[in-house]
Amino acid sequence: MNRFLFVLGSNWQLSLAELDNFLKNSQIKGRITDYSANIAIVEFETLHKNKYYINDLMEVQYLLGGCQKIAEIYDFVDIQTMFKAFPLKVEKFKLIETERNKINGVMRDSLPKIFTNIKNESIFFAVSIYPNLYDDAYYSEVLVKHFLPFLNKEIMALVIELGAKKSLYYQYPEENIKSGNLNPIFPHHIIKYGLFNKDRAEIIFGLTEEGFYIARTLTCDDPNFKKKIDEERPFKEFKSAISPKLALIMLNFLNLFEEREKKKILDPFVGNGTILLFALIEEFQIYGSDIDDIKVKNTIRNLNWLLNELDEPIPFLLNEQIRQTDITKLSSIFGSEKFDGIASEPELGPFYNQKPYYTETKELIDSKLVPIFEATFREAYKVLKPKARISIVAPIISTVDGGDLTLNVEELAKKYNFNHILLLDLNRIANKSNQKLQFQRKNVNTMIDAKKGQIVKRKIYVFEKEN
Ligand SMILES: C[S@@+](CC[C@H](N)C(=O)[O-])C[C@H]1O[C@@H](n2cnc3c(N)ncnc32)[C@H](O)[C@@H]1O
Repeated sequence: MNRFLFVLGSNWQLSLAELDNFLKNSQIKGRITDYSANIAIVEFETLHKNKYYINDLMEVQYLLGGCQKIAEIYDFVDIQTMFKAFPLKVEKFKLIETERNKINGVMRDSLPKIFTNIKNESIFFAVSIYPNLYDDAYYSEVLVKHFLPFLNKEIMALVIELGAKKSLYYQYPEENIKSGNLNPIFPHHIIKYGLFNKDRAEIIFGLTEEGFYIARTLTCDDPNFKKKIDEERPFKEFKSAISPKLALIMLNFLNLFEEREKKKILDPFVGNGTILLFALIEEFQIYGSDIDDIKVKNTIRNLNWLLNELDEPIPFLLNEQIRQTDITKLSSIFGSEKFDGIASEPELGPFYNQKPYYTETKELIDSKLVPIFEATFREAYKVLKPKARISIVAPIISTVDGGDLTLNVEELAKKYNFNHILLLDLNRIANKSNQKLQFQRKNVNTMIDAKKGQIVKRKIYVFEKEN
């Protein structure tokens, strides 16, 4: 059985949920058989049988918002062997040597699969280690300081033993290794160092509670492309806009994986159009609206800019597709049962530089945000096709004196006949013993996307219209 290792995005819970939803509902069926806070191990039903499966994986990589790299797994070493070979506290030197030799043996078998042609070649490799959790002492004290130097030295020697002319490895900055504070190779480095070439490779050692997987990276995210769309478009509000990754993840939760060019997507709170720009590169037919005429114009100009960058013709009806309207009149503008999905971030309140007070926040939620969200579900029910989905962001606002405040989105959605879709199917995921890695029912109703210290956090929900 071929297995693949997916390196998850920084919001690993959301990335894992996106991946599982994709493997369950797209035509590329599969299962996540193991995971950590950095990687997911995937077994496909049939994808690997296709001769050109690398092309399919490149498409999967392009589609997913929360995937940094996809690698093919060649071997696995169980966690007991790993802990004996690289203990946190060294007690029995003899045992260490025996266990390290076992790891060496596994690598000797894997290397000819990673480099199909070693004899007389000059081989260059970069080792990336993904721990179970970055804040584990085992990562900084053992994996970075001992396992990484061991791997570099041993792989270099094995490559020569297997007949290479030369063997070199990527050297991480010495100060990072000493301090135990290290990031694996970034996707842009993989491209810069040509690690997809035959005589070069990124070799991933991905740890979970079960052991470590040895894999070779086959494809990675192209951060420059998404960054360009996000940062170089004519109109953007840097402080408050939704991230490209989150926009893609929300689109993927709509479960529209086939014939995207025929699917109509709506964002009724376009702002500067982030979600629609990413829906456009994912080939959807895009529609949008906003109460603010300036935002409507900004979105149209951003879309024209992107179409021009992509060398694609401007759709004849683009001005008809992006309209000025209050959410309460959405169905009178677009008609009924027109859309295959809605992905949107409604009004989240003002951009705060400092935490607001409880009373003003409560007043904002009750008098402004609840009516907007209520109108959104009422109108969404009219404009969506039966069984179509809505991916929606709601705010959690941290206050000075009353903790975090939010609105009851589930209740509003239910009132207008939307069923709540859990973001992750707990029956499909084997649970973990470390609490930080566990999923419980309450963490799959909605997931939070936020940076540390952010005052307004985003909560992501998915609902499905009843028949
Ligand atoms: C959080 S922003 C959306 C930002 C967008 N996701 C982006 O990345 O640029 C919310 C948008 O909702 C619009 N809005 C606020 N109240 C509205 C209403 N009653 N009807 C329609 N749009 C509204 C605002 O003009 C604003 O552009």
